[in-house]
Amino acid sequence: MTTQQRTATLTIDGKSVDFPVYSGSIGPDVIDIRSLYGKTGTFTYDPGFQSTAACKSSITYIDGDKGELLYRGYPIEQLAVHCDFLEVCYLLKNGELPNQAQYDDWTNRVKRHTMVHEQLVRFYQGFRRDAHPMAILVGVVGALSAFYHDSLDINNPEHRLVAAIRLIAKMPTIVAMAYKYNIGQPFMYPRNDLSYSANFMHMMFATPAEKYEPNPVLVRALDRILILHADHEQNASTSTVRLSGSSGANPFACIAAGIACLWGPAHGGANEACLKMLEEIGDVSRVGQYIKRAKDKNDSFKLMGFGHRVYKNYDPRAKLMRETCHEVLNELGLHDDPLFKLAIELEKIALEDDYFVEKKLYPNVDFYSGIVQRALGIPTQLFTGIFALARTIGWIAQWHEMIGDPENKIGRPRQLYVGAQQRDVQPMANR
Ligand code: CMC
Repeated sequence: MTTQQRTATLTIDGKSVDFPVYSGSIGPDVIDIRSLYGKTGTFTYDPGFQSTAACKSSITYIDGDKGELLYRGYPIEQLAVHCDFLEVCYLLKNGELPNQAQYDDWTNRVKRHTMVHEQLVRFYQGFRRDAHPMAILVGVVGALSAFYHDSLDINNPEHRLVAAIRLIAKMPTIVAMAYKYNIGQPFMYPRNDLSYSANFMHMMFATPAEKYEPNPVLVRALDRILILHADHEQNASTSTVRLSGSSGANPFACIAAGIACLWGPAHGGANEACLKMLEEIGDVSRVGQYIKRAKDKNDSFKLMGFGHRVYKNYDPRAKLMRETCHEVLNELGLHDDPLFKLAIELEKIALEDDYFVEKKLYPNVDFYSGIVQRALGIPTQLFTGIFALARTIGWIAQWHEMIGDPENKIGRPRQLYVGAQQRDVQPMANR
């Protein structure tokens, strides 16, 4: 729903031009500047898209000042407590929470696609054993388009649905296989009698040699991690998926592009970087020294797991993750976990420090998720892979929305060119 409320007037070189201003259902209004170049011969300049809405969306809403996150209108705090991950996937993709019949049908459809093509298994052997799991995920997810030709027609709604279900269903298998390959254990086939998250734990931690029953408290914690990371409106990786998809690329290729973007330490790689940072700090007595470094303009060090482009308040996901952290550590008898204690102390000191207060830097979701994942037995290198697994539904929902949007156009930003003006090539001897 967009309505034109007002008009914005821009004056340039003494000439005034009007642009419509639209309101969404909540959140800041937007100025429609699509006609700007035609009317004025100028572009807007906005590196990092700090003030640019690149699309309309009805999936996720964030109020960064309030610290509020809604999926399809539902607060994340309610979804994390009352729903499981597959319910949230259904919600994000279809717009409404499923009733029982819809839920049963949806979970059955997902479960029918949990295995990967047996030939895909050989792809893994092409990677070095010590390859970073994200390198494997980018490659294997991109390669899905070489296997599932019957779901590549983006103009066919059934193809789009099957591709979506395949991605949601196969991501846990692909991520777990990356882990098993790395540690040299046999791949475990999925178990469709288990829930989505319990099955993932089975594929990660079971071996053919022993019986394995996932611990329900840990399964619930993993499910919550997935829910909290499922979507986050137009972040860097989602925008990458949309940009890739805007050219008509197939969904497997688009999600592979999203995974590549997510890998960076300023985005999905922050949970791994945060845990490494906590290990490096090592002791509460060294917190002050690291806070000092984070504030030093001449030092590139940043407090990982702190700050966010949109949240200028406590990230609501971080609150839920801290709660989950308590539950998991209690369940495992690790209440005295030194890294958790260190994290609490670091958070306390940073939240009282003028630098962090003035810049509105609060813990984000990654601050505690690494500690939870480590307690679940997930190796640090795989943290971002878990994020990719969770975010796959968000990417898919956003990609679907984009394909169905009549205003969708191939993404093509402009630039402020600051290079050489036209000049002539000189013979080599004169250069
Ligand atoms: N530690 C110290 N200073 C910081 C931090 C930090 N973690 N984050 C931001 N600042 C400072 C920054 O140096 C800048 O200072 P100044 O105004 O003096 O130049 C100011 O705060 C504003 O920061 P910014 O980098 O301009 O803000 P941004 O919106 O471009 O960056 C961010 C957001 C998340 C990339 C950044 O806060 C950061 O690098 N944080 C650490 C990495 C991290 O935890 N990332 C996970 C994000 S949440 C998961 C996800 O959604 O992907």
